[in-house]
Amino acid sequence: MNANEGNSIVRTVASTQSEMTEIILPNDTNTLGHLLGGRLMHFIDLTGAMAAYRHSRTHVVTAAMDHIDFIQPVRLGDLVTLKSSVNRAFTTSMEVGVKVWAENTRTATIAHVASAYLVFVAIDAEGRKQKVPQLMPETTDEIRRYEDALRRRIHREAETARRKEAKLAATPGGGTIEV
Ligand SMILES: CC(C)(COP(=O)(O)OP(=O)(O)OC[C@H]1O[C@@H](n2cnc3c(N)ncnc32)[C@H](O)[C@@H]1OP(=O)(O)O)[C@@H](O)C(=O)NCCC(=O)NCCS
Repeated sequence: MNANEGNSIVRTVASTQSEMTEIILPNDTNTLGHLLGGRLMHFIDLTGAMAAYRHSRTHVVTAAMDHIDFIQPVRLGDLVTLKSSVNRAFTTSMEVGVKVWAENTRTATIAHVASAYLVFVAIDAEGRKQKVPQLMPETTDEIRRYEDALRRRIHREAETARRKEAKLAATPGGGTIEV
């Protein structure tokens, strides 16, 4: 890794907060006129990346997108608003939370329709991982998300290790390739 000055900098959650609003058009919907899940994931990825860019101030790539809850459908013509912020920064990675609301433009009803957690990794223009600034949670909610993000990271790492073991066990010869 090409270490940068990253870890000597401390940023607040507020400085990473990002927001995006989209109108849902026919191209975004399925045959029922509901927003496609993949399209919503694209919006979530973009809004999540905005928070990660604001925190790291360098290039970022999506390492993982997990815990997506699609709570209720978004309909053609709705306004979708996504809000994101960094929950916790680690060494080169950041966990970002994204929350999504849909507004029915005729009734003005606003509903929480989805939530997701993503992990972004900071890299430089040559693709080398970069240290990210530390995050300072300030409010009670920010502190709760900060602590939860560590629990999710531990869970993610355990799940990755479990999948690796399962893959090895399923490979004839325990994963060794004979040439
Ligand atoms: C994500 C990527 C940079 C990680 O590179 P790597 O060399 O395997 O990373 P490492 O194992 O050294 O881990 C680097 C960091 O990423 C985190 N990370 C790596 N894989 C992860 C995963 N699947 N989920 C969550 N975090 C992950 C590690 O925890 C580590 O965080 P830390 O430095 O804060 O402790 C690399 O796998 C990659 O480039 N993937 C493709 C990304 C991409 O194309 N995304 C879609 C388009 S943007």
